[in-house]
Amino acid sequence: MTTYITTPIYYVNAQPHLGHAYTTIVADTYSRFKRLCGEKVRFQTGTDEHGDKIVKAAEEQHVQPKEYVDRISAMFRETWPLLQIEPDHFIRTTDAAHVAVVQKILQKVYDSGDIYFDEYTGLYCQGCERYLTEKELVDGNCPDHQKPPEEIAEQNYFFRMSRYQQQLIDHIHNNPEFISPERYRNEVLSFLSEPLEDLCISRPKSRLTWGIELPFDDAFVTYVWFDALINYLTGIGFPDGASFNEYWSVAEHLIAKDILKPHAIYWPTMLLAMGVPLYKKLHVHGYWNIDDTKMSKSIGNVVRPKELVDNYGVDTIRYFTLREMSFGLDSSFSSEAIVARQNADLANDLGNLFSRATAMVHKYRQGKVPEPAEDNAADKELEEAAQTMLRDYRQLMADFLFHRALQTVWDFVGMANRYIVTNAPWTLAKDPAQSARLDTVLYNTLECLRLLTLVLQPVMPGAAMKMAKGLGLAAGDERVCSLDHGGTWKLLAPGCLLPATETLFPRLEDDKSAVKKSAPEKTEGAKNEPLPEIDRDLVDFAYFQKLDLRVAEIVAAEPIKKSKKLLKLTVRVPAERTIVAGIAEYYNAEDLIGRQVLIVANLKPVKIMGVSSHGMVLAARTEIDGKERLVLSAVSDMVVPGSKVA
Ligand code: MSP
Repeated sequence: MTTYITTPIYYVNAQPHLGHAYTTIVADTYSRFKRLCGEKVRFQTGTDEHGDKIVKAAEEQHVQPKEYVDRISAMFRETWPLLQIEPDHFIRTTDAAHVAVVQKILQKVYDSGDIYFDEYTGLYCQGCERYLTEKELVDGNCPDHQKPPEEIAEQNYFFRMSRYQQQLIDHIHNNPEFISPERYRNEVLSFLSEPLEDLCISRPKSRLTWGIELPFDDAFVTYVWFDALINYLTGIGFPDGASFNEYWSVAEHLIAKDILKPHAIYWPTMLLAMGVPLYKKLHVHGYWNIDDTKMSKSIGNVVRPKELVDNYGVDTIRYFTLREMSFGLDSSFSSEAIVARQNADLANDLGNLFSRATAMVHKYRQGKVPEPAEDNAADKELEEAAQTMLRDYRQLMADFLFHRALQTVWDFVGMANRYIVTNAPWTLAKDPAQSARLDTVLYNTLECLRLLTLVLQPVMPGAAMKMAKGLGLAAGDERVCSLDHGGTWKLLAPGCLLPATETLFPRLEDDKSAVKKSAPEKTEGAKNEPLPEIDRDLVDFAYFQKLDLRVAEIVAAEPIKKSKKLLKLTVRVPAERTIVAGIAEYYNAEDLIGRQVLIVANLKPVKIMGVSSHGMVLAARTEIDGKERLVLSAVSDMVVPGSKVA
């Protein structure tokens, strides 16, 4: 099987930003996913370098258009490796091979009678670089550029787009997957329910010289969209390159909603006129806003990919954008949202699973992958969950539902974390009779991590590589690089030595963090009112209710320097807080991660050994073998962190 995926070719009138980065991350992730499925993949991106906008931008910089486009195109090309984006081909519309093919196509369509010369008066939007219809205007303005279009009358060449309208409507009806998600398919069909006008495909040289000259009239250059769309063909060797047919027959275009019309109407009608089969699929995503505001230079809120990578790291940015945006809908971008995802999903859920599992193998089995014994019901349930996750992931990724695929993967991360907590390897390790059981639990946990490495490869190639290394696997090992070969349970080889591991994801601090913002509101009892005098032995219910008892999940634990007794715990209730607990003599910090304990959530904060403690962990004071100890409280089943205890 073969995949050919393209991004739009970006205008070089602006530098790369988050919007360009998102589309290109999606295309890269999809390419990597298809390779994981064993397919041959061609991934193309590039730059769109002709037209009015580019000339204006070059003039502003006081340079010639060619010098200007070379500079900005290089910026796009150099941005992609920062995001671990690896296209197979980067096309430029100023490439000589592209220019030659565009001219050949124009001549062919002209010869066949689908291009004619006419005078036209229309409403032209400089921003869109196209004529708008009256119907498209909102209060007399272009809806995208908030400016009235200019009325322009000039002689030009026109493409008979209207001739292919019915054929296009039939194609969309007969091929439900041609445009997705469905809302955009409906939008296109609704647009096509009105008669199409022909498309003006030239600009007189008196107005614009920076473009591809029409082969049949040297007084005109080609309209930028007619030139740009053809990149999808020239980039794979149209018309007679060796792999052209193989790639074109499976072509999938990825765009945002802003350029739906050129891709869903101009392009297919152009292909019909050229006698070239239509592309297979058009995937349309929504727009990123910044803190719920449109991203724009004038507002000054344009987010640059380099800044993102420098601030948060490439894996976090790739994960965040894919997880946060429901494909097809708009999404809001904020540093709070990134920090929240980094801390909750990456550092806590995945990072802790990885460090906890590998640390236990080092601690209890000298770093060697143990030989599993027979599985019990809980182990079988884990294996079934793994298979379900793999199946759902494969389908959802293939359908461009990346946010849902990642949700499924994280459900499995949660299950693996719960498997550790319920099987308590730290307790098994204390009983020699449970040695085989400990082997099985550790082995199964490592297997979960291997499958997670496999499925996360397309999304976070860097983190997946670290995880593979921590599991003693080479980066190209099929067990983490092929869904067909690696998708079976129990492929890790017992006896293999695991190297020391590094932290996958650091926890991030952000003053504006949503983690802090989403802290539960203070409850009744948190008003710090003095408690009423009561009978020492009996309390009434109202008194009891003043205590805010909650289930808290421990997500990080570390000893407090200079104290033998104290541990600093980070717990989720579900917002995170720090609690200092006097349990260091009885518990290892690393064994606590993932445990759920009961806490008093509304104790007045106090500072203990310089650390602010926000609550108290409940534990039973008891005597074991004549020695006093503290045994932590727990709930009998995993519950949502923050659940109220009453
Ligand atoms: N040059 C044309 C495309 C020609 S394709 C044959 C063009 N270029 S562009 O630089 O304006 O890029 C538009 C694309 O950039 C969108 O379709 C989308 O892929 C991406 N994005 C730009 N801003 C975006 C957001 N705010 N949010 C998400 N993606 C956006 O149009």
